[in-house]
Amino acid sequence: MSKVFDLGFGQSDREITLESLPVQGVVPSWLTGTLLRNGPGTFQVGEQRYRHWFDGLAMLHKFSFAGGRVAYANKFLETNAYRSAQETGRITYSEFATDPCRDFFQRVMAIFSPKITDSAKVNITQIANQYLALAETPIQVQFDPETLESVGVFSYEAGTTGQMTTVHPHFDFARDTVYNVVTRYHRMSHYRLYQMIGAAAPQCVGQVPVRQPAYMHSFGMSQNYIILTEFPLVVNPLSLLLWLRPYIENFTWKPQRGTPITLLNRFTGEVVARYKTDPFFAFHHVNAFEQGDELIFDIVAYPDADILKAYYLRRLEQPQMEIPFGKLRRYRLPLKAKQQPVTWETISEQCMELPRFDYERYNNNPNYRYVYASSINPRQRQGFYNQLVKVDMATRQAQIWYEENCYPGEPVFAAAPDHTAEDDGVILSVVLNAAQGNSFLLILDAHTFDEIGRAEIPHPVLFGYHGEYFRLNVDR
Ligand code: CO
Repeated sequence: MSKVFDLGFGQSDREITLESLPVQGVVPSWLTGTLLRNGPGTFQVGEQRYRHWFDGLAMLHKFSFAGGRVAYANKFLETNAYRSAQETGRITYSEFATDPCRDFFQRVMAIFSPKITDSAKVNITQIANQYLALAETPIQVQFDPETLESVGVFSYEAGTTGQMTTVHPHFDFARDTVYNVVTRYHRMSHYRLYQMIGAAAPQCVGQVPVRQPAYMHSFGMSQNYIILTEFPLVVNPLSLLLWLRPYIENFTWKPQRGTPITLLNRFTGEVVARYKTDPFFAFHHVNAFEQGDELIFDIVAYPDADILKAYYLRRLEQPQMEIPFGKLRRYRLPLKAKQQPVTWETISEQCMELPRFDYERYNNNPNYRYVYASSINPRQRQGFYNQLVKVDMATRQAQIWYEENCYPGEPVFAAAPDHTAEDDGVILSVVLNAAQGNSFLLILDAHTFDEIGRAEIPHPVLFGYHGEYFRLNVDR
């Protein structure tokens, strides 16, 4: 793992802009948009190292496609956390699992106002023509997609303390509406559902009181409902107020709680049903839809929250380290006879994480078939995510892309312009090539799952999280 670890969890030395990357194979001529990706740009500040995959300072990557060429740029997101790290050579803001070193006095002062990172590194989205770098922390950073420079900040609610949010908002394209969930920590905490219609300010449409909030990285949305899956990794809000340890380390796994599931009517914000199922943990909901008398949601699940521990760098750097497999599950909630039990089944035995599907056309669609994800080859179990998988929900068969020494990130689907089949398009993934010491942008035919081209990046790209493909090329 060591070479892979050094490349994927090291630091980025360069910010560059290139008009054209060397391409092997073919970039489809219809591919004329832009892939924007987010993730850590460094795990090292001066002599100090961050502790966890979800730490680090945000870096944006841009791939713009035109005429069979791929333009590339990368840039650190300009934030207070980044500037401070540059100026002091030290980690000075709290990240997901890393707090700055503080002496006693600083520690006491931090209780009143922890300096939580504004380095929004987890996802990218577009809300009302604003391009946003998304974080779980209260501040979202607006950036210029052409220059990748920061141009402003955005938040779901006022105040920068005592709240966290998900980085996976849901979209109702027909109604020009975006939804997200904010957890507001207090003696009595609340999950608050926000909606943004067009360019209007975020509006809280409903809330659910909770004494010990769960760590929820995403939520589900069906035609009529918002789905809150409260994994039993929970926090006593008082410990966040005291902030004696890094953010996520205040959460405790309490499997005896099971996993409560709450449905909110997404138009009125009203709580319409509550269920409980077995304890499990997940980062990512995939799709959800109502069919007959059931609400069905798909999610990449783990039996417990140990996956969070597996992502500590001191664990990842061990050569024998094996990351727990996330597996795609389908949950069924009875909508009529609500006292009936929640049931679930495993859809595929493949390891899956960073799952994607054709959200734009198939979200809430019971006929959707294909889920794409980063995965781990069972015959090359040690190390990091080293293959891509496409699971067919109808046949439950999987197609795999694997190449030795290659570590692909989140597979983003880009639909062909005149697509008819669901998988008519390409998969875009940034792949670390540990043998060559750099990364490349991989282009797969989404139907056959065969490579059709790759564009070589002149440096390694650290293991990132999420990105988005925009049909409009941001450079034009
Ligand atoms: Co995520």
